Amino acid sequence: MPSDCAIILAAGEGQRMGSDVPKVLCEVLFKPMIGWVIGACQDAKIGDRCVVVGFKSEQVVDFLGDDAKTVFQDKRRGTAHAVLCAKSFLREHINANVFVCCGDSPFLDGKTIISALDMHKSNGAAVTVITANLENPKGYGRIVRTGGNISKIVEEKDSNEQERKIHEVNSGAYWFCVKDLLDVLEHIKPINNQNEYYLTDAIALILARKKTATAYLSENPLVAMGANDRLNLFKLNEIYRKILIERFMNHGVEFLSMDGIIISPDVKIGTGTKILPGTILKGKTCVGKNCVIGPNSLIEDSKIGDETLVNSSQIYQSVVDNNVKIGPFCHIRPNSRISHHVKIGDFVEVKNSKIGAGTSISHLTYVGDSDVGKNVNFGCGVVTINYDGVNKNRCKIKDGAFIGCNTNLVAPVAVGKNGYTGAGSTITKDVPDYALGIERGKQVNVAEFSKSKLAGRKLKVQD
Ligand code: UD1
Ligand code: CA
Repeated sequence: MPSDCAIILAAGEGQRMGSDVPKVLCEVLFKPMIGWVIGACQDAKIGDRCVVVGFKSEQVVDFLGDDAKTVFQDKRRGTAHAVLCAKSFLREHINANVFVCCGDSPFLDGKTIISALDMHKSNGAAVTVITANLENPKGYGRIVRTGGNISKIVEEKDSNEQERKIHEVNSGAYWFCVKDLLDVLEHIKPINNQNEYYLTDAIALILARKKTATAYLSENPLVAMGANDRLNLFKLNEIYRKILIERFMNHGVEFLSMDGIIISPDVKIGTGTKILPGTILKGKTCVGKNCVIGPNSLIEDSKIGDETLVNSSQIYQSVVDNNVKIGPFCHIRPNSRISHHVKIGDFVEVKNSKIGAGTSISHLTYVGDSDVGKNVNFGCGVVTINYDGVNKNRCKIKDGAFIGCNTNLVAPVAVGKNGYTGAGSTITKDVPDYALGIERGKQVNVAEFSKSKLAGRKLKVQD
């Protein structure tokens, strides 16, 4: 069996989007549209993928990494011209089928791709177009049928009044027999209102060669929805945001309201977890069971254990274990590992640090580049001074240590097991196990000090 392959069209600038980044990198639920499309091809088990890049191609190539090969389209002359840029890729798959789709239609799913291929094969078709009925088909290519069968695709800009009434639209995704596609590709002419080489013209050319063209009409209108401008993009975000939240509800996740809640498609959430308004969960975040996340929290590419609370805080690229309390107003920066039963309270920042089980960092503290043991207590206002202006150094705080309020720990420095630091100390030397490190001037009381000051200001002093 020759292995099937995919060509994803992604060279467009997306002028209508008004964006500095290539259109296919515009995000739906914080995931670039091309990332959704690659995911669908992976779900459909299409191993050999080739993306046609053009506008700011380096950004797209960078995003794709090892997920696809790329070919460069110098000038954007239309979708057929874009496919032609991948001619040598097509020749490598001459006896196979190729799935051609657009990088700006994120909701086409693996199942639909596979079902369309099954139909394509069983019909012995040269091309199978994936279509859907849209309530509002404006802007899409319309599927013109004759005697029930597809006869051509007409772009909105080239359509007549009758054709504009058609609700069945082209999703921009097709299965082609590679040979049949190569046969017609170079015969497509840019004779239309946009002077572009339309891939959609391949359908009529294939039919003219007495080959079979079919349309796979998906029941799910989402598969056809693409984004050409900001309003389209906003609508795609809104539609899928609600779909995902409802999907989570069906898996036992609790929502009191959908207000301000945005969850990326690759996020996982355990049953019994409650998501409160204003919560944004991004990237590959995984939240355990019976947590409360929010209100107003942002978690990106992080793993959160079970029964953990995150209130009005932000967590990036970190791991938080079970039964942890974070917030309000905490910032957990990348590469932090927070063990179980830790409490991190208001206005605390943790960066690139390990925090041992049962440790409490309750208020106004910065813990950066530090290894903190179990059951450590941080007083209010502790600062690890990890940066000397040239190098970053680590602090080590061992199990059971008690860090007094307003301690400065000048790294590299260690506080030993059950060690103490006196409030207000600037600790520059290691504190041994069980010792108290204290570094501050002795207190001097200047008697009657304020009385003379106040007298100078001609104020009456009351006894
Ligand atoms: C296209 C289809 C339309 C379909 C719609 C579905 C054509 C002529 N029209 O229209 O029938 O309903 O998609 O969303 O195919 N691209 C390139 N190089 C180019 C031109 C485009 O790589 O020279 C890429 C774009 O980056 C985009 C995709 O192809 O990802 C589709 O192009 P776009 O201009 O968005 O086509 P539509 O007008 O949406
Ligand atoms: Ca488009």
